[in-house]
Amino acid sequence: MTAHDVTSRVRPWSDPDLPVARRAAALLAAMTLQEKVGQLHQVANPDPERDAAALAAGTFGTCIVASGQHAGNVRDTGTQATAVNDLQRAAVQTSRLGIPLIIARDVIHGHRTVFPVPLGQAASFDAELVRDCARVAAREATADGVRWTFAPMLDVAQDPRWGRVAEGWGEDVWLASHLGVAAVEGFQGGPDGGDLAAPEAMAACAKHYVGYGLVQGGRDYAEVDIGPITLHNRHLRPFRAVIDAGVATVMSAFHTLDAVPVTAHVALLREHLRDDLGFTGPVVSDWGAVGELRHHGMAADDGGAAVLALRAGVDIDMVTGAYSGHLARLVGDGVVDEALVDEAVLRVLTLKLRLGLFEDPYTDPSRAAAVHLTPEHRGLARRAAASAVVVLRNDGVLPLEAPPRHVHVTGPFATATGELFGTWTLDGRAEDVVSIAAAVSERFEGTAHQDRPTRVTVDDGRFPDESHLRAREADVVIACVGEHPLRSGEANSVASLDLPPGQVEHLEALARVSRRLVVVVLTGRPLALERLAHLGSALVLVFHPGVEGGHGVVDVLSGDAPASGRLPSSLPWTTGQVPLHHDHLPTGRPLHPDGPEGRYRDHRDTAQYPFGFGLGYSPVTYTDLVLSATVLGPGEVVRASVRVTNVGTRPVVETVQLYARAHVSTISRPVSELVGVRRVVLAPGEQQEVGFEIDQHVLSHRDALGRERREPGPFTLRIAPYAGAGVTARLDVVSSPARTGTTGEGGGARLDPIDR
Ligand code: NOJ
Repeated sequence: MTAHDVTSRVRPWSDPDLPVARRAAALLAAMTLQEKVGQLHQVANPDPERDAAALAAGTFGTCIVASGQHAGNVRDTGTQATAVNDLQRAAVQTSRLGIPLIIARDVIHGHRTVFPVPLGQAASFDAELVRDCARVAAREATADGVRWTFAPMLDVAQDPRWGRVAEGWGEDVWLASHLGVAAVEGFQGGPDGGDLAAPEAMAACAKHYVGYGLVQGGRDYAEVDIGPITLHNRHLRPFRAVIDAGVATVMSAFHTLDAVPVTAHVALLREHLRDDLGFTGPVVSDWGAVGELRHHGMAADDGGAAVLALRAGVDIDMVTGAYSGHLARLVGDGVVDEALVDEAVLRVLTLKLRLGLFEDPYTDPSRAAAVHLTPEHRGLARRAAASAVVVLRNDGVLPLEAPPRHVHVTGPFATATGELFGTWTLDGRAEDVVSIAAAVSERFEGTAHQDRPTRVTVDDGRFPDESHLRAREADVVIACVGEHPLRSGEANSVASLDLPPGQVEHLEALARVSRRLVVVVLTGRPLALERLAHLGSALVLVFHPGVEGGHGVVDVLSGDAPASGRLPSSLPWTTGQVPLHHDHLPTGRPLHPDGPEGRYRDHRDTAQYPFGFGLGYSPVTYTDLVLSATVLGPGEVVRASVRVTNVGTRPVVETVQLYARAHVSTISRPVSELVGVRRVVLAPGEQQEVGFEIDQHVLSHRDALGRERREPGPFTLRIAPYAGAGVTARLDVVSSPARTGTTGEGGGARLDPIDR
């Protein structure tokens, strides 16, 4: 008998030649009840010496490296391969069955190389870029021994008062689904679930399941009410997409949905997640959420909370200790069926096996130095940062092509470094960041302006009188204002979407004395910028852009990079308008075209800047929308194409967006649904035909039971630079095959310029 045969017989779960399911089942069969329960308990920051007894007893199966409940707002010392190896050694060598741990951490938008916050990455509308950022984050985090990230966040966020809007992909379901899938592929090392055992791959976690983006009043953790049709068409859709793409884990959310906390929601966690969406991996609770069932008034104590959460389908209790403290007793007392425990443990063991941890639980300690913040990673971060820059208004001052004589950079973000990271940055270091002011100096200082070198002066706005003095002398002022990262992220909601107190006044005073004022607003959320509507020569919005934020912003201001960012969320004029999103339902009383612009007595009800909006440095026209057929039957495909022309003098990256509107359906459907995006590069004067393939699936919706419905009826297709603009054509969906091959001009194609 060979050594391999012996292993296979004695410890079959260690035999890599056996199928994962068999290995997991064999291991489960060898475990005591206490050991099983241990696999369902996640602790924070274990220490191999302090927790030696617990490690030997297998009291916990996974751990989160986090500095506390509000980890996203506090930097910590992080983890290192050597520390992780010590922990793994203790788990593997001192426990009876030698089961390795999974080390988890919130790697949300980069690790040592910090990319823009997800909302900023979303502004790129570029799935490839998002995939690359996640891949690099995984490469760097795995070098520190982290094999599980709690990302991506897929909450469709319609109320920007909610601080966590920074962590997601904005207001749109299609965008959240596509970018969410890209992030999962990046973290997990490829499509179809990737290869989790690859040393640079980590398990992703789709969170927060589900509907968290709709917390009442934007108040974090507050209640949510969503009807079944909205749930299926809007909030479950990104989860469906990433589950189809093989996401390894799911996190249940903190809030109550229709008066039942998600942590105890049987219908959501079992019927929808397992039966409808077909998810088979482990579900982890959010931090302390099992214990919080007491605060929700659902359980009298942690034991009661454990029963509810496990029965609902939460496999892993993140840090409460309710499972580890009570489940064994509850099984013994006959309150909890051991089969429920087994089912959850199997999912955890399967994940550990898929991660290859039984083959190699350790991390090469030399890898971090080789992969952290490499020039290649910085290059990607710079490109991503430039993509998070959205030019909202420009009277021609941008790009700052001819070297200005004197540039003055001012405002709280002028010299900021770590603040450029944004929320949830646990491993970035402020000293790695080049500030906007430093990047301006690097780019412009010394460049010749009619034989005189450009001068760059800087102040951080602490003394507005000094700023104004400089602004008066300078021929370009770049004012960098906006929100501190602690105003967005977890537990950081705001009641007002205005700029922080004092900033508008400062800008108004600057505008009075500057020749050319470029206002750059850095933020973790969509803001209401009504008071900046006419202020200065240009208005630029940047979602917290990460470690290369200074360079990325200046690349766009200078024109070294194209102005390609587009809004992943509508910007309201004023806070009272939210929630405000392009894909709202029609009312029964459409507004008269010649009537007032909205229903408020005191304001319009349209956005100041709509979803998808962003200016490039050259105008682009959309003409000649053509459909390959005007009728679409089942199983058929219609191609919709448009001619986009760069009519300016600079190259552009144009984000061509396809929207659909169903006019007759069994449910009332949104006035505008994004169903496709193409990014094209156009040289000055160049025109291109940009096409989209449309079948009935693309135009479908789901009914109250989650079933896909492909219903006949007239649709308007719109190909546009942003929601509500562009050219339109009518397409009729029919229930029996139409005559294929019909080619027709789009009926009534027309250009709707935005009216602002
Ligand atoms: C709470 C947050 O809601 C969640 O997003 C995060 O992953 C966990 N804490 C762990 O830090």
